[in-house]
Amino acid sequence: MTLIDRLGGTVPRAPVTVELDDIQATVLRYRPEPYYGTHVMLHVADAGAGRELLRRLAPHVDSAADWWRAGQTWISVALTYAGLAALGVPQDSLDSFPEAFRTGMAARAAQLLDTGDNAPAHWDAPFGTGRIHLGISVFSDSEQAWRRTMDMARRQYQGFQGLTVLTEQDFGAQPGDLNPLGYKDSIGQPAIEGSGVDSLPGQGPAIKAGEFILGYPGEAGEPLPMPRPDVLGRNGTFAGLRKYQSRVATFNRFLREHAQTGQERELLAAKLVGRWRSGAPLTLAPAKDDPELGADPRRNNYFTYAGDPDGRDVPLGSHMRRMNPRDTNLAQLTDVNVHRIIRRSTTYGPPYDPNATSLQDDEAARGIYFLFISAKAMATMEFL
Ligand code: HEM
Repeated sequence: MTLIDRLGGTVPRAPVTVELDDIQATVLRYRPEPYYGTHVMLHVADAGAGRELLRRLAPHVDSAADWWRAGQTWISVALTYAGLAALGVPQDSLDSFPEAFRTGMAARAAQLLDTGDNAPAHWDAPFGTGRIHLGISVFSDSEQAWRRTMDMARRQYQGFQGLTVLTEQDFGAQPGDLNPLGYKDSIGQPAIEGSGVDSLPGQGPAIKAGEFILGYPGEAGEPLPMPRPDVLGRNGTFAGLRKYQSRVATFNRFLREHAQTGQERELLAAKLVGRWRSGAPLTLAPAKDDPELGADPRRNNYFTYAGDPDGRDVPLGSHMRRMNPRDTNLAQLTDVNVHRIIRRSTTYGPPYDPNATSLQDDEAARGIYFLFISAKAMATMEFL
C-alpha cells in the first residue's frame, strides 16, 4: 500500500524541487503495509569486486520518483565508511565525511547510551565489528515479490570472489503492523519541502530538504556540510541501522506492577508513548482508546500540545513528545525542526504477546530494526 492508497487516492501535491530520480526510494517512500523484507550486510575484500557489485546493483536500485504512488517492492543500497575505503575511495575524500560516520556507532556507544547490556560487546555480530561494508535492503508489500526480488539481488552478489555475505536479516510486519511492544508505529514522519507532497494533517510546516538530503539548503538556509567530491554527497544522505531486541516480558511486568486492571495497563502503555497502541494520539483521545482514530492517517497525527502545556494528558517525558515536542514550550534547543529524522523501521521475530512474562520470552529473538535517515549523520539521532 503506497502513501496515496493509504490516504484514499489523493495526496496534497506541492512543487518538486529536489532531484527525485537521483534520490534513493527509501528516503521518501513510506514503509509498505503490510511489509516483508531483508537487510543484507556484505564485506568487500576486493575493491574491484565491490565496484562490480555496485555496477550490477545500480540498475535495480529504485529512485524516489513519484514516491507517493510508486513502490510495492524496492531495493536500496548503503555504504559504510569502511566500505568506501574498501572500494578504494581516496583518503582526502574519506576525510571529508563527518567524524561520527567515520568512527561508526560502536565507537560512539557512550553518546547513544549503549552501555551495560546494550554495550557493543553484546551486539549481534556482525554489527559493531567494523566488517560491514555494504548494506542491501529489500522492502516489499508482498511475500512473493519480496522472495523474487531477493533471488534477483542474490544473483548480483553470490558466487563473487572478494565478496562475503556477513548476514541476511529478514523482517516482516506483525498482524496489524504493530511493533514488538504491540504499538502501531511509523505514524509521525516529517514533511519535506520540495518532495512533491505537501504536509499531511498534523505534520506541521514542511522542513527544508537539506535536513534530510545532501546538497539542498537546510533550516539554517545553507546546505549541510557534504563529503567531497560533490558526486558522493549530492542527493545522498546518512542512514543508521540499529537492531533493538525488545524485552517484552520485562515491559509487560512493568505494566502489571504499576497498574491494577487491564484498562489501567493500557492507559499506562499509552502514557509511556503518547499514543494508545492503536496509534490514537492521547491528545485527541485522553481517556479511552479510539482505534478508528488510530487507523485514520488524516486524523491520527492531527494535533498539537497547545491544550496540554504541562503534560497532564501526554507526559512531557513520553516517548513521542520527547522525540518531537511539536509546539511544546521548550526552554532550550527550541527549533524542533532541526532535530527531525525520517524513520523506516521494521520488526523481526514473533508478534507481541501480552501474556509473555518469563525470562525465556525476553530472550526470544524479537525486536526492531530501527532505520533512520538524516543529512546530519549521527548528530540528530544522538540528540534524540
Ligand atoms: C524499541 C524501540 C522503539 C519503540 C518500540 C518505539 C516506538 C514508538 C511508537 C509506538 C511511536 C508512536 C507512533 C508514531 O508516531 O510513529 C514512536 C514515535 C517516534 N519515535 Fe520511537 N520507538 C523506538 C525507538 C526510537 C528511537 C531510538 C528513536 C530515535 C532516537 C525514536 C524516534 C521516534 C520519533 C521521532 C517518533 C515520532 C514522534 C512524532 O513525530 O510525533 N524511536 N516510537
